[in-house]
Order: sequence, then C-alpha cells, then structure tokens
Amino acid sequence: MTYDFPPFLADLDAAREHGFDLMTKAVRLRTAPMHTPVVSTIGSDGRPRARVVVLRAFDREQQQLRFHTDIRSDKFHELDRDPRIALSFYDAQEKIQLRIEGRATLHQNDAVADNAWSASQPMSKLCYAVEPGPGREISARDDFALPRDRSESEMGRAHFAAVIVTIEEVDWLWLGAAGNRRAAYRFANGQIEARWVVP
Ligand SMILES: Cc1cc2nc3c(=O)[nH]c(=O)nc-3n(C[C@H](O)[C@H](O)[C@H](O)COP(=O)(O)O)c2cc1C
Repeated sequence: MTYDFPPFLADLDAAREHGFDLMTKAVRLRTAPMHTPVVSTIGSDGRPRARVVVLRAFDREQQQLRFHTDIRSDKFHELDRDPRIALSFYDAQEKIQLRIEGRATLHQNDAVADNAWSASQPMSKLCYAVEPGPGREISARDDFALPRDRSESEMGRAHFAAVIVTIEEVDWLWLGAAGNRRAAYRFANGQIEARWVVP
C-alpha cells in the first residue's frame, strides 16, 4: 500500500517551517495544544524541574520565544542561576512533538518587559499581585491575597518578568501512519544546521 506523506515531510526546511507554523499559531490560539508548553530548568540542587507555561510570542526569524513569569517563582531564580532551558511542545492532531533547547534571558525593568506587560490582559496581570509570592508556604489553604478588581492589576508589575528564550536546538518528531520521522536542527550565528535522525 502506498502512502502520501504530508507536504511538510518533503524536506528538512519544510518540516522545520511546519513546526514553526504550529508555534506561531499557538501564540494567539488559546486552545492550540502548543499554547502551553512544558518548560524545564535546572533546579538549584541540580535536579531537573518542569512545569507548564503559556507561550506568549514566537519570532521564527530570530529563533526566539517568550513567556512570562513572577520574579518570586522558583523558575525565575533557577534561570537567573543557570540560563539553560528546555521546552516540550506536542500537538496530538498534527502528531508532532517539538523539543527545544536554548538559553533564557530575564527581563524585568527594560523595554522588553514594559511592552510585554502593556500587552497583557488585566486578568493575567492580577496573578502577579498575589501575596505572599508563589511557592511560599502558608498556614491555611486560603492564606494568601489575590486582588480581584481589574483596577488593581498594575500592582503586579513589580513582580513581572518576561523570559526570552533564544533557541539553539530543535528536535522535531512526527508520529505518522507511514512510520515515524525525526529531524534535528541547530541554530548558531545565523546558520541552520539540519539533519534527519532515526526516530
Ligand atoms: C495552563 C497553565 C498555564 C500556566 N502558565 C504559566 C505562565 O505562563 N507562567 C508561569 O510562571 N506559570 C504558569 N503556570 C504555572 C506553572 O506551571 C507553575 O505551577 C508555577 O509557575 C510555579 O512554578 P515554579 O515554582 O517552578 O516556578 C501555568 C500553569 C498552567 C496549568
């Protein structure tokens, strides 16, 4: 039986661009599976730590993506200590997994952070006004304060950070009816190194 491969399997460039199309779409589309990747950092004790974040921006020309976090969170401190970062994306309908490795830069008091904050919805901003900070132990379940009124949303700005990830490597995997295919990409000095690898 013959099988028509999808067009994005034509070559390594098409596979990469298709993966990047999915990420681009996922920034705006809250229901897209790639809207909420898993981000992994290196814990202060050297152990891997993973959690879900919202993908806020993706720039395929610069090979950079952005997410937001609270400066009081563990992940912020972990990235401050060691900027190496990995992200996993999976779109079950497209049958595509993207594993990204790169380096993070933290933006608190600069134009990157200001622009990201300005573009954020009031509801998203409110989360950054929580007291005490995320991860702190509390004596009872509800022993924290989170403003509910949108007029208070600016209170969180002092705790807000934009994290920019510069992508160094992408591991692309397609689990298809005709068998699996896998490609690896490395981005450095404006060059893209690409190769097929065994899935
Ligand atoms: C759907 C979803 C989206 C989330 N988005 C973010 C986010 O964009 N930024 C963030 O810091 N945490 C986000 N979180 C919470 C993190 O997964 C995590 O629980 C929290 O940030 C604490 O992580 P840390 O202690 O490792 O820093 C999200 C969680 C879920 C379930």
